[in-house]
Amino acid sequence: MAEEIKKEAPAKFKVTIDNITIDVAPGTTILNAARQIGGDVAPPAMCYYSKLQGSGGKCRTCLVEVAQGSAADPRPMPKLVASCRTAVMDGMVVKNITSERVLDARAGVVEFLLLNHPLDCPICDQAGECHLQDLSYEHGKEGTRYEFKKRIFEKEDIGPYIQLHMTRCILCYRCTYVADQLTDSRVHGVLDRGDHAEISTYISKAIDSDFSGNMIDVCPVGALTDKTFRFKNRVWFTKPVDAHRDCENPKCCGKVTLWQRGDDVLRVTARKDEWGEVQSYDGQPGWICNTCRFDKKQVSDWVIEGPTKVSRHSVISQGHYLGLQKPKEMMAEVMGGRAPKLLMDIHDISEVNSVDIGALPGPATSKTFEKKEQ
Ligand code: SF4
Ligand code: FES
Repeated sequence: MAEEIKKEAPAKFKVTIDNITIDVAPGTTILNAARQIGGDVAPPAMCYYSKLQGSGGKCRTCLVEVAQGSAADPRPMPKLVASCRTAVMDGMVVKNITSERVLDARAGVVEFLLLNHPLDCPICDQAGECHLQDLSYEHGKEGTRYEFKKRIFEKEDIGPYIQLHMTRCILCYRCTYVADQLTDSRVHGVLDRGDHAEISTYISKAIDSDFSGNMIDVCPVGALTDKTFRFKNRVWFTKPVDAHRDCENPKCCGKVTLWQRGDDVLRVTARKDEWGEVQSYDGQPGWICNTCRFDKKQVSDWVIEGPTKVSRHSVISQGHYLGLQKPKEMMAEVMGGRAPKLLMDIHDISEVNSVDIGALPGPATSKTFEKKEQ
């Protein structure tokens, strides 16, 4: 008995996920252990966000099968568990993509998340960087069994910078954690419960904190989007560029991604890591302030570092210019030395290029490009 008490827990726990074994620190969740392995072994996560305390446990997309609880008690866990909220045990064996049960359950979760989510991707600003869109491509089914009307909500204005589309919200709670943990006072939250649950501000108060824009970055779907970028462009037509500035706000890291079209800065966001979360610098999350995000839309406001690295599997990579080799300019050669503008230079005749789209206060419309009366 005394000997048993003397036994100390090992400094590292051995865990096997999809037949790959690694050693992790005690207290690590299954999800974070899987992220240490990386790739497809890491379960998708729509509500967990490592930089936000208390997040996770809401969406169930990260369900996994525990085939062996631990070396000491090898019985399997009877139900699938949320990997973002379950800590590993020494000798645990986990199945993610190697489990039919998990893949079937995940397809069910996606179907459930899409019950009320409108399929308005063609007009949604989040398209191309929406985690639910990716999830439904990878794990969704082609149909739905839901025959009722989707939820609709009264439109609500939550301030000058953030557009709320409540119908798209999957109630992951990430934005409320941002408000709790990054801003001075939270004025919005999840009101009501069940089918009526919604994100809202109390008495329509605007979210005017200095760091409220980070809610846009953590929202996995298009429920919270940047009003200054709204309908200005599709994200895959823009060129993401890493940039920084000396921001006076001590809580702002000043390191951002500029989303450019030509020389226009259409949008400024925090930089994201491979899990779609804001990057960390010296162990601290790289949140950015609203001044950097909404007010610094000139290239001259920033020190440009170079093109952002975008996964080649992302639709955004099609506008990514790293390593681009421009074709040889042949026009002058075949025209006997004449410059192409002698034929027709589209920039001379197009009104589009005389409008700085990034500086527009709202979405660009056909009126934006109407010729002004002389
Ligand atoms: S608005 Fe976005 S971040 Fe907030 S709970 Fe809904 S889906 Fe999550
Ligand atoms: S990521 Fe685990 S429940 Fe949402």
